[in-house]
Amino acid sequence: MKETIAPHGGRLVDRRLKGDELTEARKRAEGLRKIAISPKEISDLELISTGAYSPLEGFMTKEDYHSTMDTMHLAGGLPWTIPVTLAVSKETADTIKEGEDVALTSEDGTILALMAVEEVFPHDKDKEALQVYGTREEAHPGVKRLYQSGDMLLGGKVSLIERPEHEDFKQYRLDPAQTRALFQERGWKRVVGFQTRNPIHRAHEYIQKCALEVVDGLMIHPLVGETKADDIPADVRMRCYEVLMENYYPKDRVMLLVFPAAMRYAGPREAVFHALIRKNYGCTHFIVGRDHAGVGNYYGTFDAHYIFDEFDPEKIGITPLFFDYTFYCKRCGGMASYKTCPHDSHDHITLSGTKVREMLRQGEIPPPEFSRPEVAGVLIKAMKG
Ligand code: ADX
Repeated sequence: MKETIAPHGGRLVDRRLKGDELTEARKRAEGLRKIAISPKEISDLELISTGAYSPLEGFMTKEDYHSTMDTMHLAGGLPWTIPVTLAVSKETADTIKEGEDVALTSEDGTILALMAVEEVFPHDKDKEALQVYGTREEAHPGVKRLYQSGDMLLGGKVSLIERPEHEDFKQYRLDPAQTRALFQERGWKRVVGFQTRNPIHRAHEYIQKCALEVVDGLMIHPLVGETKADDIPADVRMRCYEVLMENYYPKDRVMLLVFPAAMRYAGPREAVFHALIRKNYGCTHFIVGRDHAGVGNYYGTFDAHYIFDEFDPEKIGITPLFFDYTFYCKRCGGMASYKTCPHDSHDHITLSGTKVREMLRQGEIPPPEFSRPEVAGVLIKAMKG
């Protein structure tokens, strides 16, 4: 069976060193200037190296950085909405020359990669805050992280020496080349990807299953990189998925994996970013529901739908599947949305994430119309723990 969807830019990037090149790079890195990078940058490094961020081969240079902010496209013309940058302090930047190779390390000094620094340039934080997040308020978690990062950026290609270590979710960590191979093996031509950072509730399940009705397979891809402090931890969310997979999902049509990226909370721009990355994993379709990747009231409920109108669908490549606000309706006697349900909102069972967390903290079980009892059980146990 032929591959059904090309990676963004036409080729799956692979920046992982192997064989002699790897041995040589390891030796060389010892003698190079070492730059410790943040957890978000480490996860970006991993995603660049495995091709999840194809066509990126490194951290952005100035032209791509500004082009991403100004036009939502890379300088070469491909859609791209989120800057992928490596920030350092002014003092560090002053000691790095353009054209120099540096070694990127984790906080504990483990050498992770080589970077050929092409450019050292200013981190335009005010512009990035407004263009990418739509606000300069530091109450926004993405903006807060942006303002806490270094004032200068290093741009250039990376070559991975050591994959960042992960103790968790080992069996769920598949790279784009692996998911593509698996889809082929299963004979899935049309695959829908689902991004999530919250514990699964009935509305998630409903939109996933509606989507699955019209494609061959579903890849549930919870984000397990850095999230804000009050989001439910990834291990708890994964346990929710596991009990649900056991009880309510057809195993031969659904794959549960993890997406090791950091959450940006950039709403509409992040929805496009999430879609492009899932294309690299081999998905042909991508679910975008209400307030995708949103936080607080920074974005309109359906801004993440409208933004796709600003692109040439051919260049986006993956097909977004847009879902209206979904809920359980007592009169319909099932899950529905504003698109399909004629009844008054009094008949609808909807709960905000904050409300659910509050209920769980008090040991109250969310109604089965909102959350499957198995999932509620996992969440209550985690809250007590
Ligand atoms: S997100 O930050 O990853 O978008 P979340 O895990 O809550 O957060 O959402 C995952 C996906 O489900 C997103 O596409 C989101 O828009 C969609 N979604 C969540 N709740 C609903 C709902 N009640 N109705 C429709 N879509 C929803």
